[in-house]
Amino acid sequence: MSMCRVVFAFVLLIRCLIISLAIPSNFADESALLAFKTHITFDPHDILAKNWSAATSFCNWFGVTCSAHHQRVTALNLANLELEGNIPPQVGNLSFLISINLSNNSFHGHLPHELAHLRRLKNINFGCNNFNGEIPSGYSMLSKLQDLLLNNNSLMLMIESNFFEGSIPEETGNLSNLQILSMGYNEFSGAITPVIFNLFSLQLINLQGNLLSGSLQVDMCSHPSKLEVLNLGSNRLQGHIPSNLYKCKELRVLSLERNKFTGNIAKEVGNLSKIMEIFLGGNNLTGEIPLEMAQLVSLERLGLEANSLHGIHNASPFPPHPIPL
Ligand SMILES: *[C@@H]1O[C@H](CO)[C@@H](O)[C@H](O)[C@H]1NC(C)=O
Ligand SMILES: *[C@@H]1O[C@H](CO)[C@@H](O)[C@H](O)[C@H]1NC(C)=O
Ligand SMILES: *[C@@H]1O[C@H](CO)[C@@H](O)[C@H](O)[C@H]1NC(C)=O
Ligand SMILES: *[C@@H]1O[C@H](CO)[C@@H](O)[C@H](O)[C@H]1NC(C)=O
Ligand SMILES: *[C@@H]1O[C@H](CO)[C@@H](O)[C@H](O)[C@H]1NC(C)=O
Ligand SMILES: *[C@@H]1O[C@H](CO)[C@@H](O)[C@H](O)[C@H]1NC(C)=O
Ligand SMILES: *[C@@H]1O[C@H](CO)[C@@H](O)[C@H](O)[C@H]1NC(C)=O
Ligand SMILES: *[C@@H]1O[C@H](CO)[C@@H](O)[C@H](O)[C@H]1NC(C)=O
Repeated sequence: MSMCRVVFAFVLLIRCLIISLAIPSNFADESALLAFKTHITFDPHDILAKNWSAATSFCNWFGVTCSAHHQRVTALNLANLELEGNIPPQVGNLSFLISINLSNNSFHGHLPHELAHLRRLKNINFGCNNFNGEIPSGYSMLSKLQDLLLNNNSLMLMIESNFFEGSIPEETGNLSNLQILSMGYNEFSGAITPVIFNLFSLQLINLQGNLLSGSLQVDMCSHPSKLEVLNLGSNRLQGHIPSNLYKCKELRVLSLERNKFTGNIAKEVGNLSKIMEIFLGGNNLTGEIPLEMAQLVSLERLGLEANSLHGIHNASPFPPHPIPL
């Protein structure tokens, strides 16, 4: 056998190997999607029933995005389709998945802990569904995660346990890329763990409309922070509003309304030079509204109603407000 032939045979062998390795991987993606489809119990627009058909490659299915080269699923976007069902464990086989968006449907059941295997995940949007149970602690290992949107579900968690406590070591949290943490309108209870404020990439924290209690840590915002939106409204938080909070210098929106905060508003609030919206209504705040608030040149909306404050006006001249996410 000539050298050429040996090389040729070798190349053939390698090709066969690559093909035989590639087929099962693609197969895993396709069977994961088919398992997903069989767990959909209501599909009023017949999206999956008609579109997700064996006649076309799964990469052409509605809501599915694949990588160009290897035809692996990188994104699954089935938002706003009125789908009902639960998520099967096979979703954890979509090992190239970067983004999953099932927001605004009627998915129920527990969040699949198998998602924690998907180390490439950057975006999870399960907002506005009927998920219940806890956030799988394995999600804290998704070190590339940027957006975790779980708002408007029925998830339960002692916030200071499971997902956060221990999962995020001080300063070097595994969720060090997390930018958006939107968990409003669930049934989270317990105290807010200070580690949240150590996640230095976080830009938005929304925990509005939960059952959170306890007080805010006096040393919150001691670390450099990119936090732009902090929404802790409609919980059961108490104690003073720590003046350290005003060290989160990038804040644009701050809502602590409808809690049980007491004490006064520290004059350091005047340090929030980028703040556009402040909502502190519906607490039990006392004392004078600090004059320093007048320095807040970016401020567009201020809600201080239903407290025992005096100074400027003891009511909000501003209309009801939409808060991001
Ligand atoms: C499925 O949906 C995709 C994306 O909207 C569309 O391009 C394709 O033609 C549809 N295929 C079938 C069989 O309906
Ligand atoms: C949710 O989905 C429904 C049905 O598709 C749609 O009418 C509604 O606008 C969506 N809501 C949001 C907030 O996108
Ligand atoms: C997909 O995941 C399921 C459950 O997690 C597992 O049992 C199964 O072996 C996997 N299938 C493939 C084709 O990888
Ligand atoms: C998910 O869907 C929602 C609703 O359509 C949309 O606002 C959001 O941008 C999507 N997010 C991602 C990461 O695709
Ligand atoms: C989430 O639930 C709250 C309270 O029920 C509601 O006001 C809000 O509009 C919901 N958000 C979305 C995006 O549906
Ligand atoms: C952080 O991530 C690494 C690697 O993914 C993992 O081995 C480790 O257990 C994680 N640490 C925690 C506290 O979750
Ligand atoms: C507020 O700003 C002043 C002057 O820059 C600074 O001395 C003080 O430490 C700041 N306080 C807070 C709580 O950010
Ligand atoms: C507000 O605080 C005062 C004294 O600290 C207390 O007497 C009062 O009951 C509180 N009001 C509410 C609505 O919690």
